[in-house]
Amino acid sequence: MAKTAKPKSPPDVAKLTKAQAKVEHMRLTLDIERHDKAYYQDDAPKISDADYDALRKRFNAIEEKFPEFVTGDSPSQKIGAAPSGKFKKVRHAVPMLSLDNAFAEADVLDFVGRIRRFLKLGDDERIDFSAEPKIDGLSMSLRYENGELVTAATRGDGAEGEDVTANIRTLKDVPQKLKGRNVPEICEVRGEVYMTKQAFLALNERQKAAGEPIFANPRNSAAGSLRQKDSSITASRPLGFFAYAWGQISAMPEDTQSAMVGWFERCGFRTNPLTKVCHSVEQLIAFHRKIEQQRAGLDYDIDGVVYKIDRLDWQERLGFVSRTPRWAIAHKFPAERAMTVLRDIEIQVGRTGSFTPVGKLEPVGVGGVIVQNVSLHNEDYIKGIGGDGEQLREGRDIRIGDTVIIQRAGDVIPQVVDVVIDKRPKTAKEFHFPKKCPCPLHTDVVREETAAGEESARARCSGEFACPYQTIEHLKLFASRRAFDIEGLGEKQIAYFYEQGWVKEPGDIFTLPARNTKLKLEQIEGYGETSVRNLFAAIEERRKISLERFIFALGMRHVGETTALALARGYGSWKAFHDACLKVAKDDEEAMAEMDALDQIGETVIASIKAYFSESHNRGIVERLTREVTIVDAEKPKSNSAVAGKTVVFTGALEKMTRDEAKATAERLGAKAAGSVSKKTDYVVAGPGAGSKLAEAKKHGVAVLTEDEWLAMIGQ
Ligand code: IVH
Repeated sequence: MAKTAKPKSPPDVAKLTKAQAKVEHMRLTLDIERHDKAYYQDDAPKISDADYDALRKRFNAIEEKFPEFVTGDSPSQKIGAAPSGKFKKVRHAVPMLSLDNAFAEADVLDFVGRIRRFLKLGDDERIDFSAEPKIDGLSMSLRYENGELVTAATRGDGAEGEDVTANIRTLKDVPQKLKGRNVPEICEVRGEVYMTKQAFLALNERQKAAGEPIFANPRNSAAGSLRQKDSSITASRPLGFFAYAWGQISAMPEDTQSAMVGWFERCGFRTNPLTKVCHSVEQLIAFHRKIEQQRAGLDYDIDGVVYKIDRLDWQERLGFVSRTPRWAIAHKFPAERAMTVLRDIEIQVGRTGSFTPVGKLEPVGVGGVIVQNVSLHNEDYIKGIGGDGEQLREGRDIRIGDTVIIQRAGDVIPQVVDVVIDKRPKTAKEFHFPKKCPCPLHTDVVREETAAGEESARARCSGEFACPYQTIEHLKLFASRRAFDIEGLGEKQIAYFYEQGWVKEPGDIFTLPARNTKLKLEQIEGYGETSVRNLFAAIEERRKISLERFIFALGMRHVGETTALALARGYGSWKAFHDACLKVAKDDEEAMAEMDALDQIGETVIASIKAYFSESHNRGIVERLTREVTIVDAEKPKSNSAVAGKTVVFTGALEKMTRDEAKATAERLGAKAAGSVSKKTDYVVAGPGAGSKLAEAKKHGVAVLTEDEWLAMIGQ
């Protein structure tokens, strides 16, 4: 790094009070982040190596004295790691999806019941499950071509991960070459990279002794170790890998999950020794209990167990619901709890104007992470009068200064589940929910209405797009990783550009480069020519966007990523979707029925789309934005089946399969399963008892098939 001025020496860390240390910890976090960005991203360091090391050393000393300050996103957890973007992106041939969660035994019963119904299995038909520990590490996809390891990629957003091949090659559990003859030409092995608890503790000891930062938990230390630009550092950190799944495989070597795991072992991988085939719900529950008892004694962190249908032909038939398989579930261990003090309550205004009260806690460790914020949901939750308040123990209300019990389950945001009334201080303050939005407009706060037209517990700012908070939140979502993913346009930049009046709506982002001769962004303090050049390059790179990301980025209420994907797949192109939205806004019944027929789209989403496109302000934003970008059509499910691209309606009783399976199979083969018959319908598959839909089919001259004819047509 470049040599510049030296900072003056600060007071001894040992003498700092906790409050002083906290303030300094926050300030140092910001400083280190700023210098990391200058060094790694802009290649323009602003301080000397020695000064940077001094900052780090002091920061580490503070975290060593107050380990409760160490959080997952502390700079100490990212030491040496180049920021995201330095690794090449890898598109997964088969997306890396996640698992649905079960918390109670009843959820496991439901899971098995759903499978029986979907596959039309009798109560006494045996189902085999592969039951496996759920490793709390990082999922990894290893691609082998002709038996040789060619790429190792992190999960990323599921569609695209980061190329960490050089680092993965240093793991002894990952073979460079698959053992055995006749390995498939293409084979992607997936599993979990983890660090043992012992290795994690030993690493932290070494870090401490060397005055280096300590890690919050084994998962973080595994992630930090893997994201090194220098693979010799990864090599010095003992990382393990368990193989348990796969992506693309040119020829399947086995036909059950358990046999696949056996095959991974023969190929030279380590697999988890606790994995077991179970034959009933009772055996699954017994497995969960047994593993939970063993949990503390295991040398690696687990956060539950996973049950998978063993037969791969059944897995195939069951398929996926949005981003999770129907054939597997994660049965999590009970939530971990901790006691701490609620210091304050702040209001956060969301993208759609909703108000969320956030509890500011005395930092406390729960299940491996330090928690400082907790969602308090809404006014009624705080008052303990129902609404969404079912998490909070009955008869409790929450006051500032209270000692509270918080609970954290998996990735779920921590909750306040109880208040220790005996510890309530006299000074505890009731929280008065604001009547006005904290934005400069001070617009009135209103209660939302439920679908039934009743007042709900959720409060919203009534300012809509006149409220700067909502606009800024929407712009942040728009540029975020999950939407347009514009690197270098983070929350701070968005807020700043908005305040300056440079970016008032999404389309403005794309006209920034052309307007820069006037704006002169490079003159902003701490920005510089390189950052501006990088930002403009990132903006240009993202002018081309997939339809699902584009729909999600519009920020309509109730249209999250999964819904956006369903809409994109349903309409295929922006033009088709946009035309439909404009029609829905005008209450066009046919357009509404067509939208309603799409998988996973219902009344709430349609109402939200209608509300959005009824506003001329929103239509204007969309129009100006679409002038700036190219929206890529959604990929239709690949299929050379006879029914690809056709619209089919199932009606009456089906005898060989359930309605859900029939629809899912049709969609897998590239057909659209609609809910009502129109002149656009290609086939109506009618079973016994079919009524008005059959009559409609005849009226429109649509081909009517029996269930057997349909099965013959799809080759089953
Ligand atoms: S199977 C289609 N098996 O849990 C999903 N996942 O919550 C296939 N995980 O992203 C995943 N242990 O990182 C599977 N035995 C196991 C697992 C496991 C840990 C992780 C994995 C996944 C996450 C989903």
